[in-house]
Amino acid sequence: MSLKNNVNLSSELSWHTYKYYPYEIELAKREVQALLPAAKSQKTKNGVRVEGRIDVRTAERLSYFASIKSGDRVHDTLQAKLERVNGGGRNRQSTRYSAHGLHEYKGKFNPQVVRAILNMFNMQSGSRVIDPFCGSGTSLLECAHLGMQAVGTDINPFAVFIANAKLKAARTPVQVIRSELKLVLQRCGKARVISSLDDARSEYLGGWFDGQTLRGIEHIRLAVEECAGESRETLLAIASNLLRDYSLQDPIDLRIRRRKTPLPEKPFRAAFEEAAHAFLDRLENAQAVHTYSADESEALLLDSRDLRKDVDGVGGKFDCALTSPPYATALPYIDTQRLSLVWLGLIAPSEILSLEARLVGSREVRGESKRELVERLMSNADGLPQRQARYCLSLQKALSDADGFRRQAVPILLYRYFASMLQVFQALRPLLKKGAPFALIVGGNHTTLGGKRFDIDTPQHLAELAQFSDWDHSETIPMQTYQRYGYHASNAVSTEGMVIVRAA
Ligand SMILES: C[S@@+](CC[C@H](N)C(=O)[O-])C[C@H]1O[C@@H](n2cnc3c(N)ncnc32)[C@H](O)[C@@H]1O
Repeated sequence: MSLKNNVNLSSELSWHTYKYYPYEIELAKREVQALLPAAKSQKTKNGVRVEGRIDVRTAERLSYFASIKSGDRVHDTLQAKLERVNGGGRNRQSTRYSAHGLHEYKGKFNPQVVRAILNMFNMQSGSRVIDPFCGSGTSLLECAHLGMQAVGTDINPFAVFIANAKLKAARTPVQVIRSELKLVLQRCGKARVISSLDDARSEYLGGWFDGQTLRGIEHIRLAVEECAGESRETLLAIASNLLRDYSLQDPIDLRIRRRKTPLPEKPFRAAFEEAAHAFLDRLENAQAVHTYSADESEALLLDSRDLRKDVDGVGGKFDCALTSPPYATALPYIDTQRLSLVWLGLIAPSEILSLEARLVGSREVRGESKRELVERLMSNADGLPQRQARYCLSLQKALSDADGFRRQAVPILLYRYFASMLQVFQALRPLLKKGAPFALIVGGNHTTLGGKRFDIDTPQHLAELAQFSDWDHSETIPMQTYQRYGYHASNAVSTEGMVIVRAA
């Protein structure tokens, strides 16, 4: 650390220009406490004043501040630089900078939150981080931005594909991707699309696209396979992100329903080219601000209830974990990804439902009858702590005949969710260093059974399941989300929380 960076006894940290949620202010305070521990801080009109010696380089890592004024100099944080070059406008928090916007993914983390967590936990360049439900890899990419080594695991091959594609895009010079894109576009249309009706993949896709559109989409895939090297995953991900828009599925419905709206007029190839250039412009801007190596990070196709055998011992124990796990009885995650899963050849159409059923928090029951699951719940066969076992039992007892098919399943699904999360806490614990923190962002839920409302305080239940598996519960930070840009009809407050536990 040079003396030049280690300056001044009073500095001003300025907010970004967007509107903050209350929890973001809270996380901002904690970042400052963790990264600048020697300094005393005090709120000002535009941010926070810190008194005491601070290391400006360290302060530049802050997520929720735009700049640090120290003496006569103003230093922009890395976050501000990234958001500025890829921003959604001056007053909007940008969440698509770098490779974050490569592909939509339901339940995606907000990258700022990840960075704030890493700061709060005082992780350093070289620290080892694990995300057991890594999804599309937001945490892995943020770790890569900060020079950390991250391992993510996900049971969904599409999540793993996208997470690794983001890491690869971020470390591949944009010029390389651009020149491969050019070759792909030249080649496109020249490759022959061979389809045979007995091919389950073609048959499945043929049911969801009109013939001409599907040929266009397949031309892109074949051209990418033939001409792209380093950019293969990036370009396939860009095309995959357009699939639903061009399919016969209603692209905005979270479930699978036939579309009533007309197909886009722009040919698929033109939309692909446009999307690729837009993504590469953003990536180029981010690479100009900041280069880093994402070589050390990767996403692995693994069930996080059973991590140990594959992750243990690879590169030593982890310094921290962070994740946004599935919610209890969440909407089916992969419905919106079925076309991509099959188009990318990641699974056969016949495997979709069994993948769905294996997801933690799934509403699908397969391989086991509902009666067997009720028996498991009644006898607490999975050995849940008493409070969670009793809670599920009280839900089961509250059911009445008037509750429909979906509601009848809520108690057993919740029981299965708790049992799975217990397994995850148990599997992860030995992989972390003693005292290492684990942050989980999860929301609550409610249900009405037998006419009675039950509020399912998932953050609290998870904290208790963790305690039962050799973790200490440090705290739960509420993450109320009030209206920010007017998207929500009311100023609804959700029961999301950040549960922080430590390896005991
Ligand atoms: C809320 S999403 C995570 C999103 C992620 N934070 C992101 O930014 O994209 C939860 C993830 O848990 C994964 N998942 C569900 N069950 C799993 C299991 N048994 N093992 C590993 N991952 C699982 C799902 O596939 C999904 O990607």
